[in-house]
Amino acid sequence: MALFITFEGGEGSGKTYQARALHRRLSKLAIPAVITREPGGTVIGERLARWLKWSQNTGITPLTELMAFNASRAQLVAEVIKPALESGQVVISDRYTDSTTAYQGYGRGLDLEMVKKVNGNAAQGLSPDVTFMLDLPVEEGLSRKGANKRDRFEEEEIAFHERVRAGYLRLAAEEPERWVVVDGNQAKVKIRDIVWQRVSPLL
Ligand code: TMP
Repeated sequence: MALFITFEGGEGSGKTYQARALHRRLSKLAIPAVITREPGGTVIGERLARWLKWSQNTGITPLTELMAFNASRAQLVAEVIKPALESGQVVISDRYTDSTTAYQGYGRGLDLEMVKKVNGNAAQGLSPDVTFMLDLPVEEGLSRKGANKRDRFEEEEIAFHERVRAGYLRLAAEEPERWVVVDGNQAKVKIRDIVWQRVSPLL
């Protein structure tokens, strides 16, 4: 059955691991499921992702960032997410529109209503049924990433990442029926079980 699940969180929060673990579990149960990620997930999107994360790409305005993440999203929704949901599959996405609200809205300070409109257009109105936020103290997430080869976002100041985290928590509080905030400091297997407890009754 069609079900749209997203994983959100700051840098180093472990969402990629959990998204993949959920996809593996569904595959083992022969439940048709697609895993994807943002930015990226399509050939065009992966090019945009590299450009967006490139550390030497300084001088990008917040509005340009908003548009480029949404360009990647528009392609992903049209090529992958919409067709998969229409054919009754489970879609798991590592980041989606909430990342843009958290990073470009709360982090960069763009007008939240404008961000919502642009996101909604690129997403063709498709919003997740369930969103997991893996929550971690900012410095801890960044230290998990290590100091080498940091991308443009990982190089941002701590205050930026704190705004992103607070933004996520605000989004979760505004829509508690959709969000599950998970303490990212727990063991991976424990988090995996929390995710499964929420997803399995929906299948
Ligand atoms: P990741 O591949 O490590 O998740 O990197 C993606 C980076 O892009 C991450 O720092 C979050 C950022 N991002 C935004 O700023 N806005 C968005 O809409 C998305 C999807 C990601």
